[in-house]
Amino acid sequence: MAGSRRLYSDLAYLWPLVSPPEDYAEEAGYWRDAIRARLGEGRHRILELGVGGGHNLSHLTSDFEATGVDLSPEMLEHSRRLNPDVEHRVGDMRTVRLGKLFDAVLIHDAVSYMLTEDDLRAVFTTARVHLRPGGLLLAAPDLVVESFEEGRVLRWDIPPPSRPGDPEVKVEERLTDPDPADTTIESWITYTINEGGRLRVETDLHVTGLFPMATWVSLMEDAGFETEILPLPGDGDGCGEHLFSGILQKSQSQILAGASVTPPPGRVGLAPRFSSYS
Ligand SMILES: C[S@@+](CC[C@H](N)C(=O)[O-])C[C@H]1O[C@@H](n2cnc3c(N)ncnc32)[C@H](O)[C@@H]1O
Repeated sequence: MAGSRRLYSDLAYLWPLVSPPEDYAEEAGYWRDAIRARLGEGRHRILELGVGGGHNLSHLTSDFEATGVDLSPEMLEHSRRLNPDVEHRVGDMRTVRLGKLFDAVLIHDAVSYMLTEDDLRAVFTTARVHLRPGGLLLAAPDLVVESFEEGRVLRWDIPPPSRPGDPEVKVEERLTDPDPADTTIESWITYTINEGGRLRVETDLHVTGLFPMATWVSLMEDAGFETEILPLPGDGDGCGEHLFSGILQKSQSQILAGASVTPPPGRVGLAPRFSSYS
């Protein structure tokens, strides 16, 4: 039996090598544009839940005032080094309460670790209680049901080590869905690590959530967000191609009172709206 989520604990030192911050520059541009298109210009206060090594965030800190939360102290340590001006807190995105309001809550690929609809409801509640009215939620699961392919093998595109002494690492990830009746899939990962000519292979298991796009939209709408689905560039393997964007319409007290959202003119039902950046 492989260890689980080792990439965020004993193997976390590999994160900047196998997924370097530079690789996020293009995608971060989409996040920046999505924030500005919906909130306007300005140094908005943003909260990233599941900030990990802060690689995506590192491309947004010169534009926005950021706070980052993650379960893993090892990953937060990477982000602290990369993003020294960002406030970092250890916490679970389903339960953390910072007692502050933000203009936008961002959840990058870390939202993939929400395994059930209850997990998604919990994280959307976390987002809602941290957003001012009209605030923005952006979430980007690696995969949705529509993009999952049983048995797909992903070979990560990793640049050669840039600093002398850094190990050379190859990563292969196999996706499988042992029980299509539930909302989780498994990623079995092997890391082949070459440290000065000494080869070592480590294994890792990541269990992540898999939901249809319509479930994302309806749960976000239930949580009070007027939701649309925006395109992301993805990684060429069918992962990370959807950005779920929600504007907070209903306050916490309206949700508790069961108030309904008045749809904006021209908007019908819960069908996802596909739109692109202008
Ligand atoms: C792939 S990494 C995120 C990398 C990040 N997007 C970056 O740019 O560096 C996924 C992160 O999700 C975090 N995570 C998983 N479940 C979480 C939870 N329930 N609450 C907070 N963080 C969580 C992990 O600790 C890990 O750091």
